[in-house]
Amino acid sequence: MTPIHIGTLPLATNLFLAPLAGYTTLPFRWCMREVGGFGLATTELVHARSLLEKNRRAFELIETRPEDSPLSVQLFGPVAEEVRDAAVWLEEQGADTVDINMGCPVEKVVKIGAGAAMLKDPKKTGAFVRTVTRAVKIPVTVKTRLGWDQTQLDAPVLAPILEDVGVAALTIHGRTRAEAFSGSVDLNGIRAVVESVRTMPVFGNGDVCDTATAKRMLEETGCAGLVIGRGALANPWVFQHIQAGFLGHPAPPEPSLGTRVAFMTRHFERAVQQRGEKLACTQFRKTIDWYAKFFGPCRPLRLAMKELSSRQHYYDLVGQFLAYRNQHPLSRRENHPAVNAMPA
Ligand SMILES: Cc1cc2nc3c(=O)[nH]c(=O)nc-3n(C[C@H](O)[C@H](O)[C@H](O)COP(=O)(O)O)c2cc1C
Repeated sequence: MTPIHIGTLPLATNLFLAPLAGYTTLPFRWCMREVGGFGLATTELVHARSLLEKNRRAFELIETRPEDSPLSVQLFGPVAEEVRDAAVWLEEQGADTVDINMGCPVEKVVKIGAGAAMLKDPKKTGAFVRTVTRAVKIPVTVKTRLGWDQTQLDAPVLAPILEDVGVAALTIHGRTRAEAFSGSVDLNGIRAVVESVRTMPVFGNGDVCDTATAKRMLEETGCAGLVIGRGALANPWVFQHIQAGFLGHPAPPEPSLGTRVAFMTRHFERAVQQRGEKLACTQFRKTIDWYAKFFGPCRPLRLAMKELSSRQHYYDLVGQFLAYRNQHPLSRRENHPAVNAMPA
């Protein structure tokens, strides 16, 4: 994979960790940085006004640490001046880059005119974004979808407008707002966006989970890089595997179950450290579903983790699971991660 610049920001590779609200928290990003293979990570989406009001939750979302670099902070909000002021404040705090969310399909976000609702009026959105790009020196990027629905595929209209107002890079999730996460990603739709701009890098996003899907996305869309979300939640080694595939190296050995569980445990411990035992347990009741995709048969663990109540409980459940699996090794087929692979 090739090094790339987003505006003035040099990045080691053109593979990126996508923002995933509720998942790409600092504890997860920190563990991902240790595995590596991606050039940039992005925070979960943060409401610009909450940040300006110094809301505790917004501050938690932008928490970082030296290893968690380079990092983009993703902002959303319906008021251009608030997004501008939040971007200026983030620049003063040393943020590498800010991203504006124009893809979130959630009703409470679109009903205030933010997220994917910004796709509906490309001209107005261009003026909104210009307010932000004019105010900061750090690169401003945008992440969006193909359009509101199949009758309004406006991303190829919006993209050149964003390029003209100084957006440094654009990520396109190849689905519409109406599709949310259903069906499969539309590579022709992403290609139309790539072809609509002059030099602004456009990154393809959606359903990339291994070398084959990464190659297909790059070849069929002509995009300048790949943004991977759920594929990394299920398999934190996905970036390394794609890198090896592109370099023509043999695929690195699949991490053992023990290595995967150790990653999950580091993630859990850091979540406990950062947010406290109670919140970490609540988060892990859903996080387990992603790790489980590469654990092979693990239904009892997955179900028991839905009731996760304490740190001790976590170690009891994981200990029982590993003891069971040590006594009952899997057949070769069951052990193959593709059995449990994406999409969810
Ligand atoms: C649980 C979840 C949370 C997400 N949160 C965000 C977010 O905060 N900001 C954003 O731009 N996209 C968000 N997305 C969209 C992803 O970044 C990405 O565009 C989408 O999942 C498709 O890529 P993937 O197939 O690689 O996951 C979220 C998706 C999921 C499933």
